Amino acid sequence: MLEPEEATRVWDRGPGLDAPAVKPSVVAVASGKGGVGKTHFCVNFALGLMQHRIRPMVFDADVGFADVEVMLGVRPKRTLIDVLEGTSIFDAIEYGPGGVPFLSAGSGLLDLHDLTQEQVERLMRQVTQLQERFDVVLLDCGSGMGPNFERLLAGVDELFLLTTPEPTALADAYALLKLLTLRGVLPPVRVVVNRADSLVQARETAEKLRLVADRFLDASVDVLGYILEDDAVPRAVMQQRALLSAFPQSPAARCFQQLVSNYLRLHPAPKPGGLTGFFTRLWHRLREGPGDAPGGASHTG
Ligand SMILES: Nc1ncnc2c1ncn2[C@@H]1O[C@H](COP(=O)(O)OP(=O)(O)O)[C@@H](O)[C@H]1O
Ligand SMILES: [Mg+2]
Repeated sequence: MLEPEEATRVWDRGPGLDAPAVKPSVVAVASGKGGVGKTHFCVNFALGLMQHRIRPMVFDADVGFADVEVMLGVRPKRTLIDVLEGTSIFDAIEYGPGGVPFLSAGSGLLDLHDLTQEQVERLMRQVTQLQERFDVVLLDCGSGMGPNFERLLAGVDELFLLTTPEPTALADAYALLKLLTLRGVLPPVRVVVNRADSLVQARETAEKLRLVADRFLDASVDVLGYILEDDAVPRAVMQQRALLSAFPQSPAARCFQQLVSNYLRLHPAPKPGGLTGFFTRLWHRLREGPGDAPGGASHTG
């Protein structure tokens, strides 16, 4: 694993070198209630992935709040607003401390709800293109619902639903699940419990959500993990630094390491090259003739 400062070197990875040990994905990070820690999660989860040589990118889709840039203390030259006006998404990417690539939502008056269907679809096409350069795209979504949020969800591989153990946060998380189920746009869900006092409390919280989703919505909800309540988090926010860089040994930072390992375990990289790789290997094997089978051809990343 890399130290946070070393993680920036991930970007030096040349073509064909160290294939990432993860399945490429676009993940929406959302919650029912605001202020439960989505932005904090996206930034630090991204840093945690980078320490495993995975290339993440944080897309601030919580338009109008520009939380990511504030949290990282970076003033971006370009934002999502430029992208909507025609700038390529790759030209609007900024790098925060620790090298976390992000696209700022900008703090203009624009609202995700005000975008036309055409703009949202264009945006999702650009997000898909991001996968040429990034392994995991994290969409820092707002709380609540709207037609554009639904359209965004249609293009994601997975939804990370953040909640805290507070009954209000949990009720709102359930309400969001219910709405998405009724609309038929619920992607596979993984719950992250933030600000838990203990592992026991985190487990109980996730289990409550899992049970009601199963019983009343017939929706299957899995758990990614939890983050402890930790005053290192607001201290890092005050310093406009990411927790994993500022306080890597703090209890909450250690929870992020665990979350990242859970994620890597649940999303193993596909075999290199997929089917094409399989035929390439078969071709080489046939050419090499019998008795000369290459042993290490199917190494997993
Ligand atoms: N695990 C935690 N321990 C302590 N405070 C936290 C934790 N997670 C989040 N916070 C506090 O909650 C605030 C809101 O988090 P933020 O990520 O901005 O929420 P959201 O993006 O969901 O609105 C942060 O500024 C931070 O001070
Ligand atoms: Mg936020």
